[in-house]
Amino acid sequence: MDKYIQDAAHKIIGSTHLTAFTGAGISVESGIPPFRGEGGLWTKYDPSVLDLDHFHRFPKQAWEVIHTLFYEFFGQCEPNQAHIGLAELEKMGYLKTVITQNIDNLHQEAGNTDVVEFHGTAQTLVCTNCGKKYRRSEMDFSSFPVVCTACDGLIKPNFIFFGEGIPPLAYSRSMQEAENADVLLIIGTSGEVMPASMIPRLAKQNGTTIIEINTDDNIYAHGSNDIFLKGKAGYIMDIIIQEIKRLLQ
Ligand code: APR
Repeated sequence: MDKYIQDAAHKIIGSTHLTAFTGAGISVESGIPPFRGEGGLWTKYDPSVLDLDHFHRFPKQAWEVIHTLFYEFFGQCEPNQAHIGLAELEKMGYLKTVITQNIDNLHQEAGNTDVVEFHGTAQTLVCTNCGKKYRRSEMDFSSFPVVCTACDGLIKPNFIFFGEGIPPLAYSRSMQEAENADVLLIIGTSGEVMPASMIPRLAKQNGTTIIEINTDDNIYAHGSNDIFLKGKAGYIMDIIIQEIKRLLQ
């Protein structure tokens, strides 16, 4: 592993446009379960709870699960060493943009300032009837479904449901990063969901070098130039940062 860590550190130091692409796996060590694989949310809950049509037809039932999955304990979760490592890479001047599929806001809390939330966010919500906007901190989750204080309309979190389009600005920014990045650091994603899983593929077509961190197998790091680091994101990001600092001494 040491050689691969050294290679990854050299690639990051020598990069001209480093971008990070993250999935649920980066937040597992913060206490947030992944969606797939061992202990995954979709092994316990039916993904249809995030289907837009189901949400409008069964709002109370949908909101009860959405609150459990995304609001009940999200608030107490802290960024882990992997999030902190990405913030450090921004501070060191190597990493500008994080494209995340996550809605937990942990990259922002760790200190990254340019975070593209490809699947939206759980931090803000909107009334599906009158469009009134809400912050998560002002929500009353004492009864479900959660309704608008202005018009009694159904409130929906600002993350995308299955059947919903990707926020246009997030989509265009992500495709731009896939065009421009010379190194893409991919952390904790199964690559199961389109169009998010297209981003690394587009980058590879443009000759981007992939550095991938995953506890399971590598999904994207197949090229001769690519680096696959098998293990927990927090530990691996920590030793990459240490190696970069050692090389810069
Ligand atoms: N460190 C690194 N990788 C990890 C860790 C860890 N501690 N724990 C799990 N992983 C890996 C798993 O091996 C898996 O490949 O993280 C990945 C998590 O995959 P998913 O749960 O499918 O998460 P993600 O790829 O982000 O899913 C994409 O699916 O349900 C939708 O909208 C949801 O954004 C989500 C999208």
